[in-house]
Amino acid sequence: MGKQYFEDVVQSRHCVRAFKKQAVPLEVLREALALAGKAPSNYNIQPWHVVLCEGDACEDLRQAVSEAGARADFTLDFPFEGDYSGVYEARQADHLQKLQECFGIDRLDDEGRNEIYMRNFRFFDAPNVALFFIDPKYSLREAIDVGMFAQTFMLALESLGVGSCPQTALGFHSQLIREKTGVGDNLKLLFGMSIGYSDEESSAYDINMGRAEIDDFCTFLK
Ligand SMILES: Cc1cc2nc3c(=O)[nH]c(=O)nc-3n(C[C@H](O)[C@H](O)[C@H](O)COP(=O)(O)O)c2cc1C
Repeated sequence: MGKQYFEDVVQSRHCVRAFKKQAVPLEVLREALALAGKAPSNYNIQPWHVVLCEGDACEDLRQAVSEAGARADFTLDFPFEGDYSGVYEARQADHLQKLQECFGIDRLDDEGRNEIYMRNFRFFDAPNVALFFIDPKYSLREAIDVGMFAQTFMLALESLGVGSCPQTALGFHSQLIREKTGVGDNLKLLFGMSIGYSDEESSAYDINMGRAEIDDFCTFLK
């Protein structure tokens, strides 16, 4: 594999929040899942469990989740503290500002900001949604494995021309999603992911979050 190819895939992946209606063929999703399955995990236990919805299953879930979101009816398997301070607070604020800009919403428009948030529960109108579960007996260490799986999955999707957006927000509906997808209490919902072909014409597609400099997050020791 060429270095340039890897760099192109990594650089071109970004969260997509505007999708075309066109469904992603099952073979393409399976190909990306197979590549994601190559992700490393503690003792190779591969603790990820994915439910991938398309067609009516995706539409039913979209309706149920968006209605529950509108009622602010939330159930979480993992707590959401959202306690960001210092540099993290600044990054979160920058992220929110960029999101509002690309959705064309004024900085002081609370209703508009809420509308962006609510779009999470409509899966940003994506034709597919994936839900990432883990066995309840596991916690942080194994959740790291699922994160590695998910990033490999997103890069694989990108290499196949498919956009995605991982979503903590979908984890706010864990009980409802379990009920609607027929998943039992033997699995906990970590997060979801909207998936589809990117609508590159939309302003919501054109977003560049930017990143910290290497020396801000890595200490080199000699
Ligand atoms: C675990 C995880 C959860 C996320 N949850 C959400 C979410 O609920 N809604 C959303 O719009 N973006 C969500 N994101 C996307 C981040 O906002 C995005 O990755 C970050 O701003 C960097 O932007 P980029 O991925 O486009 O480069 C999530 C990302 C990760 C890794």
